[in-house]
Amino acid sequence: MAKQKATNITWHEGHVERADREKLLKQRGVTIWFTGLSGSGKSTVAFTLEHALVERGHLSYVLDGDNIRHGLNKNLGFSPEDREENIRRIGEVTKLFADAGLISLTSFISPYRADRDRNREIHDKVGLPFIEVYVKVALEVCEQRDPKGLYKKARAGEIPEFTGISAPYEEPLNAEIVLDSARLSPQEAAAEILEYLTAKQLLPEL
Ligand code: ADX
Repeated sequence: MAKQKATNITWHEGHVERADREKLLKQRGVTIWFTGLSGSGKSTVAFTLEHALVERGHLSYVLDGDNIRHGLNKNLGFSPEDREENIRRIGEVTKLFADAGLISLTSFISPYRADRDRNREIHDKVGLPFIEVYVKVALEVCEQRDPKGLYKKARAGEIPEFTGISAPYEEPLNAEIVLDSARLSPQEAAAEILEYLTAKQLLPEL
């Protein structure tokens, strides 16, 4: 758990409220948190959903694990501590994005339940919706797909602490949405999430 390091810092309140930004953007700020094994299809579904949302006139943005690890989180590896910090930072970024009025979609393995729950908690505390989407695909299927050839390398002992092979993945217990991306196309999966958002009145025209 990251500790507060800085002292002598003061919180400043702005003059523009979240509701003002949401009115301006004609949408609600929401975080949609995808979790699942590498190769489960998280990023494909997230980018498909981003496209569908933007086409409907909603400002949406994907934070993708592989991409973020090229920049903001380039100093983090795959030890449990680094993964925790990876997920903590993205939880804070999505909270800021949602407060700004954006619909942000995250695509990280996020293998630890406690880390995902902590991100849910920081959203809950300030009244921001946090929707956990579990892209549930069996390890054997992900390994067979092996889009980046990483499972093969991990089996050969060339990648230490590889999720599903030599590092754990803790399934969500209470995800809002569970997707079987082995059965659904990316478009069908995105449509299912859109339906959920509509039913929960998270896509209103403000
Ligand atoms: S997380 O566990 O910290 O959430 P994240 O989603 O950012 O992981 O990054 C996962 C991606 O990094 C995988 O899709 C894969 O392409 C790559 N990767 C490289 N090494 C590993 C590893 N040891 N375990 C899992 N993924 C890895």
